[in-house]
Formats: sequence, C-alpha cells, structure tokens
Amino acid sequence: MQYDAAYTGTGRPMIAPSILSADFARLADEAARVAGSDWLHVDVMDAHFVPNLTLGPPVVKSLRAVTEIPLDCHLMIEDPDRWAPGYAELGAHNVTFHVEAAADPVQTARAIRSAGAKAGLALKPGTALEGYLDVLREFDTLLIMTVEPGFGGQAFIEQMLPKIAAARAAVDSGHLRLLLEVDGGINADTIERAAAAGADCFVAGSAVYGADDPAEAVRRLREQAASVS
Ligand code: DX5
Ligand code: ZN
Repeated sequence: MQYDAAYTGTGRPMIAPSILSADFARLADEAARVAGSDWLHVDVMDAHFVPNLTLGPPVVKSLRAVTEIPLDCHLMIEDPDRWAPGYAELGAHNVTFHVEAAADPVQTARAIRSAGAKAGLALKPGTALEGYLDVLREFDTLLIMTVEPGFGGQAFIEQMLPKIAAARAAVDSGHLRLLLEVDGGINADTIERAAAAGADCFVAGSAVYGADDPAEAVRRLREQAASVS
C-alpha cells in the first residue's frame, strides 16, 4: 500500500528537501526554512563515485544538532561498506548507499541498522531492480534515482517510471517491505507521475530551495502527490 503509515509515519506522501540546493554557508537557517518536511535529504558526494564533492560526517553531525527534521543521508561514495555505518552512529535517521559501490550490501545494511538507523539501497538509472530483489529484504528504503547522481537541477528521466512501478508491485505483492523514494528532477511538473507510479517519498532540491517560500513549496508538492494516489 502506497503511503503505508508503517513506512511514512504519517500515511501521506513524504517530501524530503535536498540541501544540495541550499546555501551551504547557512545550513541551520536553510533547514529551518523547510520546517514541516518529512525528511531532510543530505547528499554526500566524494568526487570518486560521482564527479562532485559536497560534505561528510562533521557537517552531518552539526546538522543533526540544529534541526529536528530526520536526516536522510544519501551516500554517493565509494566504499560505503566502510563509511555508511558511521552516518548512522552520528544520528542519521536513514542511511542510503549505492549498490553499484558496495562490496557487501547485506552486511552494510545490517551494520547501519545495528547502529540505529534505517538502511536504504540506491539504484542509478542504469541499474536494474530485478537483480536486487533478494538483497532488498535487508533494507527499509529503496531509492530510485531519476537523474544520474551528482548534481541538482537535472531533468527527470521519464524512463524510470516503469522501475518505480515494478518496485511498487513488489512491495504491494508482499515480497518486500520498503519505503520507495525517488530522487532527481522532482518538481510540480513531474511529481504526479512519480506518485502515480508508486513512490512514497519525494526528494526535491531545486524545486524547494529555488522557491520564494520553501516550506510552502513542500506543502504544495505533498498535496500534488496526494492528489493522484
Ligand atoms: C543528485 C542528488 C539529488 C539532488 C536532487 O545526485 O542525489 O538529491 O539534490 O536535486 P533536484 O531536485 O534539483 O533534481
Ligand atoms: Zn540525493
């Protein structure tokens, strides 16, 4: 069931603003500007797994201290097996890493959960879902990338809609128990299609932080997603 309260906490669509589109010199203020968001999406990039470099554990630790919004850490890094559990230890609510970078995703998911966070698996646009259905039994969240990871402000890849729908079908048939999250190019023009395909949680960077009133943008996106379920 989409928006199952067991996963979303609220029984409604979740919106996770991405601070990649925020002002990195004012992150506490930028978190406050999206009060009412379900998660705060934190893109960790290492300039190796993706051609961009953002932030790491010290910034996550500081953010944790200045906001009540649960942190959703999206690790776009090499060797997540080594680094991902540390984000859980810092108090991240959900720690998602890329299967393409992981040597032992099951062991890493178990380590994240042992440290007290939800474990998420991310798939790049070119990575098929089908090979990971068994592995996903060890996870709480599936993050389907709807752009190539690395940068905000890119266009939503429409060809990802069948992947979202296939994941929804796998959850609804009882084969998996997962929150389905989409990331990349989510805005007022695309969120309804992603919602109709079955996503529960919508990451939005430029559509939220590019708005005059980011909190209002979050509310509108949530209403739009709810309107098609
Ligand atoms: C891209 C990041 C996204 C990004 C989304 O690699 O994972 O979270 O911030 O930005 P928008 O919503 O602008 O596409
Ligand atoms: Zn992200």
